[in-house]
Amino acid sequence: MTITQPETTAAPHQRFEPAADALRGRVIAITGAGDGIGRALALTAAAHGAELVLIGRTVSKLEQVHGRIAAFGQAEASIAPLDLERAVARDYDALAEALQQRFGRLDGLVHSAGILGTLAPIEHYDVPTWCRVLHVNLTAAFALTQVLLPALRASQDASIIFTSSGVGRVPRAYWGAYAVSKFGIEALSGILADELGGAGVVRVNALNPGPVRTRMRAQAYPAEDAGSLARPEDIMRPYLWLLSAASRGVTGQSLDCQAH
Ligand SMILES: NC(=O)c1ccc[n+]([C@@H]2O[C@H](COP(=O)([O-])OP(=O)(O)OC[C@H]3O[C@@H](n4cnc5c(N)ncnc54)[C@H](OP(=O)(O)O)[C@@H]3O)[C@@H](O)[C@H]2O)c1
Repeated sequence: MTITQPETTAAPHQRFEPAADALRGRVIAITGAGDGIGRALALTAAAHGAELVLIGRTVSKLEQVHGRIAAFGQAEASIAPLDLERAVARDYDALAEALQQRFGRLDGLVHSAGILGTLAPIEHYDVPTWCRVLHVNLTAAFALTQVLLPALRASQDASIIFTSSGVGRVPRAYWGAYAVSKFGIEALSGILADELGGAGVVRVNALNPGPVRTRMRAQAYPAEDAGSLARPEDIMRPYLWLLSAASRGVTGQSLDCQAH
């Protein structure tokens, strides 16, 4: 009789076991750091030694995260208020300038901020909502990345993570502007990775969280039993892998947080 081990479908980034100091000394900026996946990542990255730049629009939420990080007593965090819907060039420039003056470099940039918009057929999709979703989810991520590239290039080993979605890889009816913005994110990630080159110091990847118990997920699936979903803190391994030295040289990939 042959006894076979059950096969695990988890990829290396999903199985990653980070050392407690996996992000020590790394300066990492996260958008949407006040809630959901971005918040969980800020707390997890800080617990692994990173110095955080918490970017978001609701200062009270960022202050709450800042307070939790301060209580760890091991890493610093800074708050950078930025409303991605309303920010203009001077707001981006001010953030880049403040970051440059304080740290002189950036080792990680995670785009987690996003909005769902509405679920509706293209035929009836509200045009102002379409523009807002494309702007917050895609154009703002482009603008922030562009303005922070000099700081990322000043790092020895920098990682950019764009947050994608299943509907950013396979079209699905009614997901409208959100899905189009995530297809755009996949393209932006791939184009930038290609431009920055395989051997460069800045790696660029797109990460799909999969279904996660957050406010956005509840908005998209109001009747769902949220208890069956992964919590934000359950999907942190791939983020830590991409942000740590473990993924050095990995670029231009579209990865999933959760095994199928
Ligand atoms: N949850 C899932 O199942 C799932 C699946 C696939 C992909 N994703 C992606 O994962 C990322 C995080 O989503 P989530 O589930 O954590 O959602 P969430 O809990 O709703 O968090 C979204 C974050 O984005 C911020 N944000 C929204 N509009 C903003 C703006 N104009 N300026 C600055 N920040 C803004 C929010 O800030 P406020 O708190 O101040 O509103 C919040 O911190 C998104 O890119 C989403 O598309 C999520």
